[in-house]
Amino acid sequence: MTFRLTYATMFNPPPEMHTQFEAALAKLEATFGQRHPLFVDGADREPAAWGEKRTPIDTDLVLGEFPLADAQDVDAAMRAAHAAFPAWRAMPVAERAALLRKAGDLMQQRVYEIAAALTLEVGKNRMEALGEAQETVDFFHHYADDFEQHHGFDHPLPNDPIDGVVSRNRSVMRPYGAWVVIAPFNFPFALAGGPVAAALVTGNTVVFKSATDTPWSGRLLAEVLRDAGFPRGTFNYLSGAGREAGEALARHPLTAGITFTGSVPVGRNLLQQMAGGAYPRPCIAEMGGKNPCIVTEHADLDRAAAGIARSAFGMGGQKCSALSRLYVHEAVADALIEKLNAQIDAINIGDARRREHWLGPVVNAAAYDNYARYVTNLNAGGAKLLRGGKQLREGDAARGYYVEPVLAEADLDHPLWKHEMFLPIVMLHRYRDRGEAMRWANDTDMGLTAGFYGAPDEVPWFQDHIEAGVTYANRPQGATTGAWPGYQPFGGWKGSGSTGKAIASFYYLQQYLREQSRTVVE
Ligand code: ALA
Repeated sequence: MTFRLTYATMFNPPPEMHTQFEAALAKLEATFGQRHPLFVDGADREPAAWGEKRTPIDTDLVLGEFPLADAQDVDAAMRAAHAAFPAWRAMPVAERAALLRKAGDLMQQRVYEIAAALTLEVGKNRMEALGEAQETVDFFHHYADDFEQHHGFDHPLPNDPIDGVVSRNRSVMRPYGAWVVIAPFNFPFALAGGPVAAALVTGNTVVFKSATDTPWSGRLLAEVLRDAGFPRGTFNYLSGAGREAGEALARHPLTAGITFTGSVPVGRNLLQQMAGGAYPRPCIAEMGGKNPCIVTEHADLDRAAAGIARSAFGMGGQKCSALSRLYVHEAVADALIEKLNAQIDAINIGDARRREHWLGPVVNAAAYDNYARYVTNLNAGGAKLLRGGKQLREGDAARGYYVEPVLAEADLDHPLWKHEMFLPIVMLHRYRDRGEAMRWANDTDMGLTAGFYGAPDEVPWFQDHIEAGVTYANRPQGATTGAWPGYQPFGGWKGSGSTGKAIASFYYLQQYLREQSRTVVE
C-alpha cells in the first residue's frame, strides 16, 4: 500500500512509512556501483566520460557512476528538444495535462525509491526526502490542473468594428521552444520536477540538467517521464559538472528559455548570458535567501523555538528558504535561547539512512570546509557562539560530512549577516524597538522567506513591512521553510528571484508562455 504523503504526515508518519522507506533503501543499496546513462531523444545515451558519485553520509560508499555531459551531449539534447517542439506544442492541452498526471501517478508509485535516492545522494533525512518526492508528485498534478483550469490562458477579447469592418480579437499564450531547467542540489527532485512540469504542460520541450551532486534523482525523473510516454525528444536529461554543461546550455543557440534554481552568482551569470545572444531570452532565476525571523515579546516561545530550529537546521540549513537571521526582543531573548538550546539538544546527528537521525551530513567537502571557515569568521568578527561549531567527521563512526548546528549572537556589523552560508548556522541579535528589528530584517539584498512570532494583532504589521516573497507567522512547523504546492506560492523578491512570480502560484505558468495577439477580419 502506498500512502499519499502531505506536509502534515511528515510530522506524524505512520509506521508503514518507515518500513517502505527502508525497503526502498535496501533495493537501491543492491544497485550500488551501477552506471546510469543520460536520456536524450527518447533513448539512453552513453557519455564520453563518467564520474563516480559518493554519498556524503559515508564518503567510502560509491552510489554509482554517472555521466559527465560534454558539449556534444548538450548539443544532442538541445537539437532533440528543438525537433520535438512543433508536434508537442500542437498537442491539445488536455493530452499534455494527461501525460503530466500519468507521470505524477508513476512518481507516486516510486515515491519511496525516489526518497531513498535523495537521502543517499544529499543526506537529507527520510521525512524531508519523502516530503520532497511527494511535493514533486503534487507539482505535476498542480500544473496539469492549473493550465487546464485557465484554458491555456487563451483569452477572447471584444470585437472591434471600424467603418463597418469587424475584427475578431483574441489573446493566446504560446510556448517558447526548447526550455532548459537547471536544478539545485538541495531540492534536486522537486526543483527539477516543478519547472519541468511547468515547461512541458505549457507546450515547451525540455532539457533538464541536474546539479553536480545529484545525478541519481535526475535520472529517476527521466525514467518516470520515459515510462509515462512523453514523446521522443520532449524531455531530455543531462548530468555533469555545473559550470561546463550549464554554460554550454545557456550559450546554445537553440535554448529558448531557462529556469535556474541555485546561487546568486550563477543566476546572475545566466541572466546576463540570456540577455545576450541573437536576442534576449527569458530566464526564471530562483536564487538564494538570507531569511530573517522576528520574535516579539508577545510570542509563544515554544512555538517559536520549534519553528526556528526546524527552519534553521533542517537539512543542515542548506535550503534557500532556511532561517539564518534571528531578531529577538530583549525581554524574551534569554528565554528563547534556552528553548532553542533544548531544541538543539534533541537533534540527533548522523547517518541519514537511519530513522533516529534528524540531521544528516552537509552535501560535500566544499560545504564541510565552508563550515569551518564560517565558524572561524564568526569568532574573528566578535560573535559569541552560544552553541555548536564542531565538525564531526573525525569521530569513529562518522565518515561523512557531519557538523553541529550553530547558534551565534553577533553585532549587526558582522559581515556574515549579509552572506548566505547555506549551512546550519543561525545568527541572533536582540532588539528593543520592533521598528528597528524590521529595518535590520530588510537590510539585505535577498528577499525570499521570512518568519514572525508575536501577537496576532502584530502579524499584519509584519507582513505589510517585510520585504520577502514568502511569509509565515506563528508557525511551529517551520519559521521560514516548508512551502507546499497549492498552499504557499514560493518565490523571492530582490536578489532572491528574477521575476517576482512564485512557484505554484496563479502566475507561474504564464512565465513559460509568450503572448500572441490575434486579430482576424472575415
Ligand atoms: N519548498 C521548500 C521550502 O519551502 C523550498 O522550504
